[in-house]
Amino acid sequence: MSYEHLPNEYHVGHIRIRPNIVLAPMVGVTDSIFRRTILSLGGCGLVSSEMTNAASVSPKARARHNQLEFLPEERPITIQLSGNDPDLVANAAKQVEQIGADILDINCGCPSPKVTGGGHGSALLKDLCKMEQLIKAVIAAVQIPVTLKYRAGWDDNSLNYLDTARMAEAAGIKALALHPRTRAQLYTGLADWSRVAEVRQVVSIPVIGSGDVKDAHEALRRLEVYNASGIMIGRGAMENPWLFMQIAQLRRGETPFVPQPADKCEFLVRYLELMRTEIGERMALNKIKQLIGQFGVGLPGAAKLRESVHRSENSDIARAHIEAFFEPYMTTASAAV
Ligand SMILES: Cc1cc2nc3c(=O)[nH]c(=O)nc-3n(C[C@H](O)[C@H](O)[C@H](O)COP(=O)(O)O)c2cc1C
Repeated sequence: MSYEHLPNEYHVGHIRIRPNIVLAPMVGVTDSIFRRTILSLGGCGLVSSEMTNAASVSPKARARHNQLEFLPEERPITIQLSGNDPDLVANAAKQVEQIGADILDINCGCPSPKVTGGGHGSALLKDLCKMEQLIKAVIAAVQIPVTLKYRAGWDDNSLNYLDTARMAEAAGIKALALHPRTRAQLYTGLADWSRVAEVRQVVSIPVIGSGDVKDAHEALRRLEVYNASGIMIGRGAMENPWLFMQIAQLRRGETPFVPQPADKCEFLVRYLELMRTEIGERMALNKIKQLIGQFGVGLPGAAKLRESVHRSENSDIARAHIEAFFEPYMTTASAAV
């Protein structure tokens, strides 16, 4: 099957995103190291920071976290903010612009009670007037394009993804990313991509779909069937960091790369070592424990690998467990683990 007719880029204001397959923002995951690791494999057109509370963007607060740090090779990059006070988020947006972000994204999708409790994230779906004020204040404060990431609605009785899209476009938002679950769904059930297609019909800005894309064929099928401007991949990138590259290969008519045990082992070890060097032992250990949960999905014996990495007291032990897990497969080059 040929995919050559499918669009391969979209624009966020003046910024061209090519290819139109992008990394989703994920708290605790999409830090600079993860983003660079994904970009190094190829096929990813845009990366995003983790969601950052607008209240923690001041230089003093920034000294305590590294969520806004990025390197030039990560460009174009989106920095995502959460908040619900228009002045506070607008001020934070100015600082994000000064730091050099290419795109500023407003989070109206996070379902976590810690976030919605403060009126941030998906709580804004319950008050579109408030969301509009916030969007307008942010857009007035910065020159860089502003985008919106959101869910289909608070629950099935208050689906407002079309109203939100129309309001956001009229307020000056340059692209939308829709995770078409409701807040009430959290991560259960399936993302209903027909909603992405519906949003495409009511606005003329790009509409990126987010949710449940785990496979290259499936990604391109969604571009086609739901007419999405782009595809955003979150958990699929933790499970299979080669997914972006595989999509690019499939689009060119090539057979997608099948990572072998040696590739998987090398990926995990390289990622762990990079983290040890850049963010230290404790954080590296926590993050490899987090990644292994998703990365292991579908691997025979993955539960054992997960368990042993989770039990590891330091990253040397974690690395040894990873190498020991893959070792028996190393000699059989064609066996895909
Ligand atoms: C661990 C984790 C952290 C997430 N953090 C964020 C975030 O910081 N900002 C955001 O807009 N969405 C966040 N999401 C939602 C994802 O960006 C994405 O919309 C959702 O997971 C559905 O896509 P997927 O099935 O490809 O993962 C997060 C999801 C996960 C699993």
